Amino acid sequence: MAGGPTTAALVTAAAKAGGIGFLAAGYQSVDDLRSDIGAVRSAGTELFGVNLFITQYDDARSATTDVEIDGFARTLERIAMAAGLDGPAPASFTDNDYAGKIDYLCKNPVPLVSFTFGLPDAEIVRRLHDVGTEIAIMVTTVNDARDARERGADILIAQGSEAGGHQSTFSIADEPIGRTTVDLTQAIRAELDDVPIVATGGIHSAVDARAALEAGADAVQLGTALLNTPEAGTSAPHRYGVKQHFDSKGESTTQFTRGFSGRPARGVINRFVLATQNAPAAYPYNNQMTKPLRASALSLDLKHGSEYVALWCGSSASHSKQAPSGFMEGMALEQVFAAIDPFGDKS
Ligand SMILES: Cc1cc2nc3c(=O)[nH]c(=O)nc-3n(C[C@H](O)[C@H](O)[C@H](O)COP(=O)(O)O)c2cc1C
Repeated sequence: MAGGPTTAALVTAAAKAGGIGFLAAGYQSVDDLRSDIGAVRSAGTELFGVNLFITQYDDARSATTDVEIDGFARTLERIAMAAGLDGPAPASFTDNDYAGKIDYLCKNPVPLVSFTFGLPDAEIVRRLHDVGTEIAIMVTTVNDARDARERGADILIAQGSEAGGHQSTFSIADEPIGRTTVDLTQAIRAELDDVPIVATGGIHSAVDARAALEAGADAVQLGTALLNTPEAGTSAPHRYGVKQHFDSKGESTTQFTRGFSGRPARGVINRFVLATQNAPAAYPYNNQMTKPLRASALSLDLKHGSEYVALWCGSSASHSKQAPSGFMEGMALEQVFAAIDPFGDKS
């Protein structure tokens, strides 16, 4: 979970609890990634992964126009002015030194690397395989699953539409097709029976986890369920907004928004989401432009701040009725894992 929630401590705690944590290197520099890998290893954790974003420059340019980006900048200026926040940064492109991180991971191999937002080049797959790294690719459609397998993915992560945070669509302009985690997992399993599938999206209870395993998954991946653990680096307004959402018992809801980054991502609806409904499909431009607003919202009080930061959060049919007691109340990660143990008897 890029942007703060995933920390080296969370990855280490996941390993101790019997899971496999992924360092969220999507937005990180090589130096920060090196330091997180060092922290995880010095805590004694050997089995972990690193997650990277594929950033398509050509797609980013063709999916939008300068006029749309200028219009979005005006919208952000109005939002910032009204809320007393810092205005937008200029629209700029970055791939967050993707090539540098690949080079680093080829020289300093880790057990697993996962890719989000597209396929790594065949050459990158070969280089990582040569150093003994297994590759996972997160997909949202059966076609993408087939392509990922052909490209050499050792593991497919099937991301349903309930997932909190970004949808791993392969093209920036794509709208999420809205397939649920169980449905997508079943469909991929029906096509591809020789690859491990990790189901992800809306798995917030043992009931959700079992449904995904019964649909053909070999494992499940959690995001939202870990956001309010002490080991996570989730910002205070994010914790506040997500907790309010879970406490609201259906009064508040989540939706996809392109407002924060330019790619569709699921979060709790707040003022920023409502004010940016027409945001262009312009990842990573929106992400760069909204940085100062989001950063300055951290110094507002929690209630106001939570209206202007991304409250990434998954939607699960189970959370009102099945969520274990104490869920999202700052449970230690080990307790979350125990409550969501799909192989145990809890429900
Ligand atoms: C705060 C947050 C940040 C996320 N960041 C990433 C990321 O950096 N890379 C990625 O592949 N997926 C990311 N995701 C999506 C997760 O990998 C996963 O698909 C999702 O959390 C599953 O749904 P759930 O949140 O309902 O458990 C993020 C999700 C959340 C909630």
